[in-house]
Amino acid sequence: MRLILRIWRQKNRNTKGKFARYEVNDVNPDMSMLECLDVLNEDLARRGKEPVAFEHDCREGICGSCGFMINGVAHGPLSGTTVCQLTMRHFKDGEELILEPWRARAFPLVKDLAVDRNAFDRIIAAGGYISISTGSAPDGNAIPVSKERADAAMDAAQCIGCGACVAACPNASASLFTGAKITHLGLLPQGQPERDLRAVRMVTQMNLEQFGQCTNIGECVAVCPKLIPIEVIGRMNHDYIAGSMREPEAGEA
Ligand code: FES
Repeated sequence: MRLILRIWRQKNRNTKGKFARYEVNDVNPDMSMLECLDVLNEDLARRGKEPVAFEHDCREGICGSCGFMINGVAHGPLSGTTVCQLTMRHFKDGEELILEPWRARAFPLVKDLAVDRNAFDRIIAAGGYISISTGSAPDGNAIPVSKERADAAMDAAQCIGCGACVAACPNASASLFTGAKITHLGLLPQGQPERDLRAVRMVTQMNLEQFGQCTNIGECVAVCPKLIPIEVIGRMNHDYIAGSMREPEAGEA
């Protein structure tokens, strides 16, 4: 099949960008979107032109490195799928696709389709971990965890930090991401001792980065490749308010 790609080209964040039009022929319908870009880049390199920059690592939907907008939708038209797993058979022969980077102030552009998502790392570094000693691995039944709690924690743990939620949100809010990380650890027994501090510090850091506030629009959930539920945002707000009352100094650290 043949595809027309209109791709955002921008050397760096200090230069102006613009769309460039490319025709990619001999696209195999079983190729992923990233493999289609590989084909384009090989052709560009052969002709002495600058290849398109985009991020990737695992190409299996687990690392969260990849991601850009396809026709205005984060990760493209297929629900619950990253661009590295989006195969070309979901598009029509001769179709035109518009590829753009995530657009959010907190994700400054690096080049073409690649953006800097270090703001997510700083939110995690603020408290998205367990630092207390949990001892050696106890017997599986020694600390009972209800199935509902375990399922909710594991659902939240699916977040791969790709940034699609921020890119899709009209406010560029990082609430789904931060809520997923707070929920994942806050629902499990090992996460309890630092639960208040964690929520206050992570939300404080999120607010320090240039993300917008959540206004419950729900675009984040619609594009999340891991189908993180919106309830994690409610849990984040609950833990942040409760934590702020019990640890009023935590947000100033
Ligand atoms: S490259 Fe790892 S999730 Fe897409």
